[in-house]
Amino acid sequence: MKKIQSVRGTVDLFSHEMRKHKKVINEAKSVSSLYGYEEVSLPIMEKSEVFIRPLGLSSDVVSKETYTFEDRGGESITLRPEGTAGIIRSIISEGKMNDLPLKLFYSGPMFRYERPQKGRLRQFTQIGIESIGNSDAIEDVDVISCGVNLLKKLGILNNCILNINTLGDAISRKDYRENLVNYFMKKSSKLSKLSQSRLSINPLRILDSKEEEDQEIIKNAPLFSSFLNKASIEHFEKVLKFLKLSEIEYLHNEKLVRGLDYYCHTTFEFITKDLGSQGTVLGGGRYDGLSEMLNGPKMPAVGFAAGVDRLAMLYLSKLSKPDIISIVPIEKENFEFCYKLLNKIRENKICAEIYPGGNVTKNLKKISKKDLKFVILIGINEIKSGKLILKNLSTGNQSEISIDEFYENLEFLTRS
Ligand code: HAM
Repeated sequence: MKKIQSVRGTVDLFSHEMRKHKKVINEAKSVSSLYGYEEVSLPIMEKSEVFIRPLGLSSDVVSKETYTFEDRGGESITLRPEGTAGIIRSIISEGKMNDLPLKLFYSGPMFRYERPQKGRLRQFTQIGIESIGNSDAIEDVDVISCGVNLLKKLGILNNCILNINTLGDAISRKDYRENLVNYFMKKSSKLSKLSQSRLSINPLRILDSKEEEDQEIIKNAPLFSSFLNKASIEHFEKVLKFLKLSEIEYLHNEKLVRGLDYYCHTTFEFITKDLGSQGTVLGGGRYDGLSEMLNGPKMPAVGFAAGVDRLAMLYLSKLSKPDIISIVPIEKENFEFCYKLLNKIRENKICAEIYPGGNVTKNLKKISKKDLKFVILIGINEIKSGKLILKNLSTGNQSEISIDEFYENLEFLTRS
């Protein structure tokens, strides 16, 4: 019979991989709480309109990557491709506008129908932070600084370059957009089909194009920096000033536009060469206009998200399992005695498990495959003499100790 395979672009996580994912999420939780972020949990599915305007109808995500379906009540539902729009939706729908500023941390699965490859999945996990209600440029730097510290904690920072850019405010963007359209219009016959289609909907995205024929045209395109108004320049200069003050190295990359429509002012990405073409490990920026795109009030905000799957691939330290004591009854008849011992060990907050009595060799073989450290062997003779055999599988040491002594030294024994 044909085996049922997992859905393309999804992963099953076991053992070491699972531990790495947990490590990344826990580090992100702890670093973000140091910056004052509180964890929230939001639905994995949202009404489709939550994503359409904020991410942009012409964005890759909305135009071809969302998992969108009609539910049984006829409502259009989308599995969240990212967390930011849902957070703003929840602040508006839960009426939390009066509680601002809010600093929220989240982690969980996101869904994008992309072509799967190394570091690119259809179901992937993100951790993210969103600081809502603070329009100061220093907050952009504080968000970036939180990302820096997370990457540092994971030992990844040295292999990443922070790319940063500004998309200015809405007025600057309107000016720039007009100029960019004029420029691209003159060259439109030489542009790729994809870029031609973006010309009227989102010309800024053309700057992001990977198509060969667009590269020369993009190289000579007008730069956003010439169209930034005073307020936008001041915002960005303050960001750069405080990055320097925080000793955060960066590369000002004027071509960094990011793929989602809701951004304004600061955008940034931490990029590594260690993951091939999927090198962006963490990306974010300011999105002051997102709330209004969802018919909410003015709500300045800035944040980032990072791909847990990518960070876990880059996290190279070995994470060992917590020590577990495995109890192996030498004869079947000793199982009850051993089961009582098992409960006692667990009462002492030490992880323990029990194997069926009888075939000791078979059980020890299973245990050694599972990379476990301690084994307790108990048979009729041991029970009679009030002793047990404690075996440390990693050192090979084996000792016979009295059961009473074992209880008294439980913690010490597992650390030895
Ligand atoms: P994003 O750049 O689309 O931004 O995604 C953030 C991160 O998620 C990426 O840098 C990457 O590490 C990871 N990621 C994205 N797509 C995939 C995929 N198919 N497979 C594996 N990992 C992936 C956002 O999602 C924004 N919401 C970030 C943000 C938060 N901006 C402001 N606040």
